[in-house]
Amino acid sequence: RRREQETVWEINRLVAGYYARQLQDKSGAPARQYLEKRGVPLTVASKFELGFAPASGDALLDFLRRQGVSGEEAVRCGVAIRKETGAVVDRFRGRLIFPIHDARGRVAGFGGRALDDATEPKYLNSPQTPFFNKRELLYALYQARDTIREKGFAVIVEGYLDAITAHQFGFTNVVASLGTSLTREQARLLLRYTATALIAYDSDTAGTAATLRGLDLLQEAGFEVKVVRVPQGKDPDEFIRQAGKSAWEKLVTQALPLLEYKGIHLAREKGIETAAAKMAVLRELLPNLAWLKTAPEIEEGVRAVAQLTGLSWETVRGELDRFLEKGQ
Ligand code: UTP
Ligand code: MN
Ligand code: MN
Ligand code: MN
Ligand code: MN
Repeated sequence: RRREQETVWEINRLVAGYYARQLQDKSGAPARQYLEKRGVPLTVASKFELGFAPASGDALLDFLRRQGVSGEEAVRCGVAIRKETGAVVDRFRGRLIFPIHDARGRVAGFGGRALDDATEPKYLNSPQTPFFNKRELLYALYQARDTIREKGFAVIVEGYLDAITAHQFGFTNVVASLGTSLTREQARLLLRYTATALIAYDSDTAGTAATLRGLDLLQEAGFEVKVVRVPQGKDPDEFIRQAGKSAWEKLVTQALPLLEYKGIHLAREKGIETAAAKMAVLRELLPNLAWLKTAPEIEEGVRAVAQLTGLSWETVRGELDRFLEKGQ
């Protein structure tokens, strides 16, 4: 199994190299045009080892066979598929390729974006295999890990291009969760580099729901958590490119602490007009308050929740104590 994993890494390395060369090739023109349209310079593309998968059905397989890699091995790596007829064909065709590195820079798998907005799916990823688990990887962590340690915090975005754009504009402590479902494994992985995480998901329904899930999950994993509020309807890629570097910097500086973000969200959702509504909001925040460890943290948290709900400090403190007793 371990030998097999080594082989998968070796083959994936070959595959990433092949796709990267195709991006430079004459046939890579549509992908280069697409990158230009998205504002990604080739220098940035090469930092992330971006590539292009040709449209023909077996260009990668031909290359791999010349390197002594069988169709069977290519299927095992998730870069080829066996059809019902038994024929083996390339998985990625006519797509811009994003290699997904592990923290040590090994290529674990690939994402491929269609070059137009009509093709479904928009992103095609390597399939889940014993050798590729999307739940245990953070996109761009390999490129971000040093800065995350230096700056003392990480920013988590949803998509490949959100991370790439952030890096392009100098925010090199940004990683992507590869979609909206941040996992415990990803949280544990990130915790090796920092204990402070900012969520900066898309400002849409899916992104907001994922932010609320992510907050709790990161707090349980041991993070101090904040939320970067991206303006309505945008994702970080669009925002940074439209509003510019300093506007993004400002958003990050103004990130809201977990309790405040969640409190504002709940107050908007449930209202805080009546005493019952205030208590309902408080009850949803108690599990988050209960994670706070030090006396100053608890005091600040209680004060924030009291202010958000309009309840007294004593009421919040009292409910927290009752909640903690019940939990033990
Ligand atoms: P988005 O749909 O927000 O993608 O999904 P995006 O990065 O903004 O896409 P662009 O800007 O149109 O290129 C966020 C992330 O979710 C994953 C990808 O990792 C994507 O970057 N995703 C999304 C998929 O894996 N498959 C999909 O079909 C869609
Ligand atoms: Mn979205
Ligand atoms: Mn986008
Ligand atoms: Mn998006
Ligand atoms: Mn809600």
